[in-house]
Amino acid sequence: MLSTLQNYSINNISSRITSNSINFSTLSSNFLKNNKVPNPEDRDQVGESVKLSTLPSVDPIGHIPFLKEAQKITFGRESKLIKNNEIVSCQANGGTNAIWLGLSLLQEQYKNPKVYISAKTWGNHKKIVQYLSEHRGIQMDLNVYPWTDENNTLLSDQFFKKMSLAEPNSIVVLHACCHNLTGIDLKPKKWKELAQIFAEKKLHAFFDMAYQGLGSGDLDNDAFALRYFAENGVTTSVAESYSKKAGLYGARLGVFHHVLPGGLGKEQWEQRAADNLQYFSLKPSALHAEIMYKVLSNNVLFKDYKEEIRQAYSRIQYIRNLLSDKIEQLTDYDMDFCRTGRGLFTQFNLDKKYIESLQKEAIFLLPNGRISLPCLNRSNIDRFVQCIIKYL
Ligand SMILES: Cc1ncc(COP(=O)(O)O)c(C=O)c1O
Repeated sequence: MLSTLQNYSINNISSRITSNSINFSTLSSNFLKNNKVPNPEDRDQVGESVKLSTLPSVDPIGHIPFLKEAQKITFGRESKLIKNNEIVSCQANGGTNAIWLGLSLLQEQYKNPKVYISAKTWGNHKKIVQYLSEHRGIQMDLNVYPWTDENNTLLSDQFFKKMSLAEPNSIVVLHACCHNLTGIDLKPKKWKELAQIFAEKKLHAFFDMAYQGLGSGDLDNDAFALRYFAENGVTTSVAESYSKKAGLYGARLGVFHHVLPGGLGKEQWEQRAADNLQYFSLKPSALHAEIMYKVLSNNVLFKDYKEEIRQAYSRIQYIRNLLSDKIEQLTDYDMDFCRTGRGLFTQFNLDKKYIESLQKEAIFLLPNGRISLPCLNRSNIDRFVQCIIKYL
């Protein structure tokens, strides 16, 4: 239950799509007023609706007006990189495919690159690198960098040391925000230090951004790291997903962005991206790109959208605090890692045998102890706490 329902009660945009319109509604305003955990059914019906008349055709690299809007929320509306036409962006089938597309383009670009992923991470990072390495005739040497220890303490010194010893042109996959597994992110000061190492060592920062807005309630805050890297001399790519941040989980909407200083080689990059999408039968669809384009380009809808993200974030933080308080009231276990963490996930470093015992009580954690916090609610949190504290 806890590991699978990760989209529970995040925003509801996708649930309001009908054949020709989308209605926006907000999560229960009672939640904000009374600080109560809302049920998804409690949503108020307010907001705008958009008519989708005919679907536009898409270019080989995707829905161009949508891609332009996507650049703005990723790099910032005032971004000089956008003004100077220095970003190449291609639509992908969700964040997973954006990572796949981006790494396959970089694999061609660098020839036998070293790729670093976080020692604790979302399982697909490793699988995508291994797949591309085995199936595309260009070896990618997979490495890991340290992230957190068993007490959920960030190992930034060890991580930074590893980066300072990495070969130039190594590709480093970073979680832009809401680290998927631990929920523990670097603070802005540390991101800046890391950017300096990347610039000096000529490392390639590959940001995976699947949860923009859900880490702080603010789209701009959560994109801080990638913007800082891109604007401060680091070769930067971003794979972003609309699955969580727009509630479009089944729609497979994602974007791969790559920054090209001076915009040099943009056409060739677009051509290679279009070829990759075509050969692997991954051509993006128009429908959800058109919906997202309408949301991002309409002031009223964009405001509603940002408010929904803020509310979804508030709910996640509320659950983080509630869970932490409840566990700390009953045990000596320090829950600060959960309270101060960001995003949908947190990790309990539990022995495998305890995770199996919990399963027998119908409490499902991933084998690595990760739980998805939005799955907790008023009705199930006490039972979860009673079960897990036996093993903390
Ligand atoms: C860290 C991370 N990156 C990428 C993705 C992929 O997103 P999508 O579902 O859009 O393929 C996920 C989804 O769970 C994720 O957690």
